[in-house]
Amino acid sequence: MSQKDNKVFYVVAIIIASLGIYFQNAYMILVLLVFSMGSWFMRDYKIKLELKDAKQALHTKRKEADGLVEDASSKLTQLIDAIPSPLVYINQRGDFEVINVYFKQMIEVMPDNVYDVSIDSPLRQIMLDAFLNEKQFIRQFSYHGQDFQVHSIPIINDNRYTGCMLIFQDVTRVTEGEKMQKRFIADASHELRTPIASIKGMAEILNRPGFNDPETLKEFLEQIEKETGRLDLIVKDLLLQSRLKANKVYLEKSVFNLRQFFDGLVYERRQELHQANIKVKINCPSDITVFADQFRLSQVYLNLINNSINYAKNGTIEIDCSKKRDEVTISFSDDGKGIKKELLPHIFDRFYRGESDRNREQGGSGLGLAISKSIIEAHNGSLEVDSIYGKGTTFITKLTQI
Ligand SMILES: Nc1ncnc2c1ncn2[C@@H]1O[C@H](COP(=O)(O)OP(=O)(O)O)[C@@H](O)[C@H]1O
Ligand SMILES: [Mg+2]
Repeated sequence: MSQKDNKVFYVVAIIIASLGIYFQNAYMILVLLVFSMGSWFMRDYKIKLELKDAKQALHTKRKEADGLVEDASSKLTQLIDAIPSPLVYINQRGDFEVINVYFKQMIEVMPDNVYDVSIDSPLRQIMLDAFLNEKQFIRQFSYHGQDFQVHSIPIINDNRYTGCMLIFQDVTRVTEGEKMQKRFIADASHELRTPIASIKGMAEILNRPGFNDPETLKEFLEQIEKETGRLDLIVKDLLLQSRLKANKVYLEKSVFNLRQFFDGLVYERRQELHQANIKVKINCPSDITVFADQFRLSQVYLNLINNSINYAKNGTIEIDCSKKRDEVTISFSDDGKGIKKELLPHIFDRFYRGESDRNREQGGSGLGLAISKSIIEAHNGSLEVDSIYGKGTTFITKLTQI
């Protein structure tokens, strides 16, 4: 009932009551009673109606608010799951209050809280450190063969610690890259150090006061020239390989005949091949042409010929070429000492040399096959190896012609 209704009601009630008292009329007092009761009922009914409306409005508002909360919560879950790194929020009791799918995958088991012993120890230790120390940190750790960088963020609300959030980043590829880089630097410096040490040693002897031995002088000078040539070769090979890897070598492609190409290479190396007592069979139909950088391709096959000269003496090299639709396949085989199965995955690595070949005086820098593979890959082709230890080795090149 409104304020105005109240006022009218009181005024009418006072008038009727005054008239009833004035006229000492029981009928009027009865009317007043009925009127008052009616009014009270009306008022009660109206209040009830208003209350019902208010309840209904409240219910609708609550439903709306619940909908909004549900919507926000599902959006938050979607957002957290979309973060492509494992993420967990540990509340002040140590429970996993928020986790995303990547964290579930990482942890494998689903424990209730951070103290659970079913969590594997390195992960559990990191989470306990973050939760108990209440400090921000970035740390690296290995877990199930992967390297992770974890970022711990304490959550402070109204000056109170309310738990911590941990975000894990998979850095396996980065650390692998770093390890490879370190290995490469170690290998490169080792390869460079050997000829440098030898040159240094000889120069010191030649510089000794009173040195006067024309024969040793001649021998050392020849040796120094040889070692310098080797250093030059390593540096050039290294530069070429890193430029090829970085796609910085411009390929001068042309169409040329494969049979003529191999005849030319074998002719170029005829002396060394003869000295190593190696025969060459070229099974290459004379109509096969290839679209490639002839100079770079000759580097690849000169490397393979050199390797055969070094590792497959007194034998036969077979070069087979075929062309199927747009693909040219070249198979280069020797019947030399072969390569052990477990070493095959490494032979294209930079500076890789077989154990027994490491101490050899002769031979390359261990960069030959790495460069050959990079050259073929720069042509969008593939270079694979197949070998039976003690029987021989086959290198298969596939070049797709556009
Ligand atoms: N035809 C082959 N037969 C046997 N082993 C080979 C052959 N070609 C390559 N290898 C092995 O692979 C290693 C890497 O070859 P490469 O990259 O050309 O380096 P390098 O010849 O300088 O040692 C060699 O040291 C050798 O152990
Ligand atoms: Mg070689």
